[in-house]
Amino acid sequence: MVALFLFLALGLSATASAKAVPGLAMTPPMGWNDWAHYQCDYTAKTILENARALVRTGLAARGYDQVTTDDCWMRKQRSSSGNLQPNPKKFPSGMQAVGAQIHSLGLKFGIYEDAGYATCAGFAGSGVPLGGGKAHFLQDARLFAKWGVDYLKLDGCNVYARKGESKYAAYQAAYRAEHAALQKVGRPIVFLESAPAYFQGTPDWYDVLTWARKYGQLWREGSDIEIYDRKDPNRSRFASIMWNYDYNLELGRFQRPGNWNNADFIIGGDHGVTLAETRTQLALWSMMSTPLILSSNISKLSAAAIRILGNRAVISVDQDPLGRMATLLQRSPVMDLLLKPLVHHDYAVAVLNRGAAPLHVVVSAAELGFPHADCRFAVRNLWSGARRRSAGTLHAEIAAHDTAIWKIRPAAQCARPLRMGTITRIVPQASLNHHIAADYTRCLTAPAHTGECAGTVAQSWRVTRSGALESGGKCLAQSGSHVVLEACRRWSAQRWTYNLLGNLINRATRQCLTGPRTGELTARKCGHNLATQIWALPNGVGWHQRLL
Ligand code: GAL
Repeated sequence: MVALFLFLALGLSATASAKAVPGLAMTPPMGWNDWAHYQCDYTAKTILENARALVRTGLAARGYDQVTTDDCWMRKQRSSSGNLQPNPKKFPSGMQAVGAQIHSLGLKFGIYEDAGYATCAGFAGSGVPLGGGKAHFLQDARLFAKWGVDYLKLDGCNVYARKGESKYAAYQAAYRAEHAALQKVGRPIVFLESAPAYFQGTPDWYDVLTWARKYGQLWREGSDIEIYDRKDPNRSRFASIMWNYDYNLELGRFQRPGNWNNADFIIGGDHGVTLAETRTQLALWSMMSTPLILSSNISKLSAAAIRILGNRAVISVDQDPLGRMATLLQRSPVMDLLLKPLVHHDYAVAVLNRGAAPLHVVVSAAELGFPHADCRFAVRNLWSGARRRSAGTLHAEIAAHDTAIWKIRPAAQCARPLRMGTITRIVPQASLNHHIAADYTRCLTAPAHTGECAGTVAQSWRVTRSGALESGGKCLAQSGSHVVLEACRRWSAQRWTYNLLGNLINRATRQCLTGPRTGELTARKCGHNLATQIWALPNGVGWHQRLL
């Protein structure tokens, strides 16, 4: 079989939706934030010590060049002129002075605010006051611009909904207002929106993700990564890394240069995360092109952790200009195989061992989707730096909780890899903490059902340019309300269109591919954001595809 064309829209044609703000955050932001390590227990001194440590350790030169003060920098009350006021105990010289010192180190200055009437920790928010009244978005944005702020994280606690207004509408109005305010202040400020995180697990989630990309450059779409707990410093935080990875991986269709899913902080190197797990977090975050924002005490990082977090080759996978989400080629209860296209027809490949025992893996060119049996590639192991000039397979011994990552450059005879991999749907969770992929993700399985992801051939699908979903050379078709796998033919019952909301819509009937948690697939009337009808496809899909 010949690779026709990779990473083209499935469906009729690709149409760009609202444009990303040109020039801002064209690669995922990198830097440091105090929250996951210090919470509210910090002062200007803490911030500046970490800023200096970024420079001293060389991490700033590797790209971690932005320093953000999270919640708790301000007072509960505004001044008589309605301005935000820094907490004088924490910031005796004010925020502008801190910003200037951060800038003098060659770094960028980020600040936290909230779209509600109070921040999550109860300090003055920019949003509509409790009970109604005038919001402060513009006044605060002007102040931030005056202080030299380069990056705003706008959280979403305590958003007040006016009488008759839905929660959804109140959030959209607040984030839209901040967007409008930032346009007026005459300073480019990267805008991180937390709005989607307040809708995770609800049908509105997907709609919020759709507008978040119009207003800002990045968004937090889900639950917080586990914070450092001084009282229980050695408690493992690996499950939390896995959970944030799992929910982020399903959302590749929303991201593109200038618009990033943000899987939350890099806690690798801090307490509760081993060096293997630190490698895993950096490799997975980079495979997903999600922001790399360290949140630890930088001066206390071990030399080994700094080497991992500062690995240039892995960082360059994160910062690749294409900004693509990795495709999940295979998923079993212990292993994920990921492929990510990079510029110049290079690819990054990663294998995650989420299990408790070491894993010996051999990955063939065919498993990566290269259609020609004689495909060979130049390989670099990004952790060891070891290179091979010509290989037909990748192999590694991967320790428990570790991740292998390579960059490969296929020889000309390889052609492009087929667009193939798993097709998954998520299972909304009752509680959003510490889940494992086996509970969260279901895999489309040949002939025509959904089941636990088992890494089998029956869960490997090829997405063709004409919109067919192929497994083992057969095509998925709608037949009445049933879905069947049958010999491939050129007819619309075997053609599917994919949209930003994640629906797979049959071209003959305009009905949606519907997958229960486990069991037979059907085709049903498309509902609005029904969990059973939302799918993540092999990626390369960085733009909106036309609805039928
Ligand atoms: C959470 C947010 C954290 C941190 C915290 C501050 O909502 O996800 O990253 O900003 O609020 O109170």
